Amino acid sequence: MAKFKLPLNSIVKNGKYFKCESDNKDNIRVFKIYRYDPDDQKNPRVDTYEIDTADCGPMVLDALLKIKNEIDTTITFRRSCREGICGSCSMNIDGRNTLACTKSIDEIKGDIKIYPLPHMPVVKDLVTDLTNFYKQYESVQPWLQADEPENKEKERLQSKEELSELDGSDECILCACCSTSCPSYWWNSDKYLGPATLMQAYRWIADSRDNKTNERLKHLEDTFKLYKCHTIMNCTNACPKGLNPAKQIAKIKSLIVSNKI
Ligand code: SF4
Ligand code: F3S
Ligand code: FES
Repeated sequence: MAKFKLPLNSIVKNGKYFKCESDNKDNIRVFKIYRYDPDDQKNPRVDTYEIDTADCGPMVLDALLKIKNEIDTTITFRRSCREGICGSCSMNIDGRNTLACTKSIDEIKGDIKIYPLPHMPVVKDLVTDLTNFYKQYESVQPWLQADEPENKEKERLQSKEELSELDGSDECILCACCSTSCPSYWWNSDKYLGPATLMQAYRWIADSRDNKTNERLKHLEDTFKLYKCHTIMNCTNACPKGLNPAKQIAKIKSLIVSNKI
């Protein structure tokens, strides 16, 4: 399937306009949604949909579902849990990367503009291709690697203090809002791992039950993989779960230094 990567400053022309016939004009909100279909060989466009919000749930995802179910079945987006757990409904709403299912329509003033996550190849409409993102995630071996073999009769216990080391990283839902808001990742996503993957790498580095800390740090010590983070902080501002990937990246850098001393 042909894929279109949204170029910076690309002019996306207006497409179809779907009017709402409701008499209740005060409740009508306008949604402007990026549309791209690799099969129709046309440039992307923005379609406009009017929605009577009195007849719709409160979140942007509710509006998208209403559009898909009642107005335009061709619109394509990912969603699953509908409550900020699965990370699949991440997109750019009102100029910010966030989760459609936890973003309230009322929070947004004026027209509601919805685009796919920036600087990612677009598969269709609001669906981006996350192949590279998941390959990078896999590259940090995000699973427990302990010297002691598994014992089905005995759990690998942690103290409360040890467990607290994972706070702020094991809540990550891999939505990619942070990585796709990072300028360093925009320009170097082939080599720079990005904040989401580095956050996950830290999650295993910090795990007291894991015995591959040194190997994990060694794997990350690289001009591109880790050091392309220039502390721009967009990642932390973007995270819809309120996490701080920039802080975890800084912890990895400092562990690499202290490991050498
Ligand atoms: Fe999403 Fe936040 Fe995890 Fe980044 S750190 S992938 S924004 S949950
Ligand atoms: Fe990017 Fe966040 Fe670092 S925005 S440069 S990953 S601090
Ligand atoms: Fe799961 Fe939004 S649908 S996070």
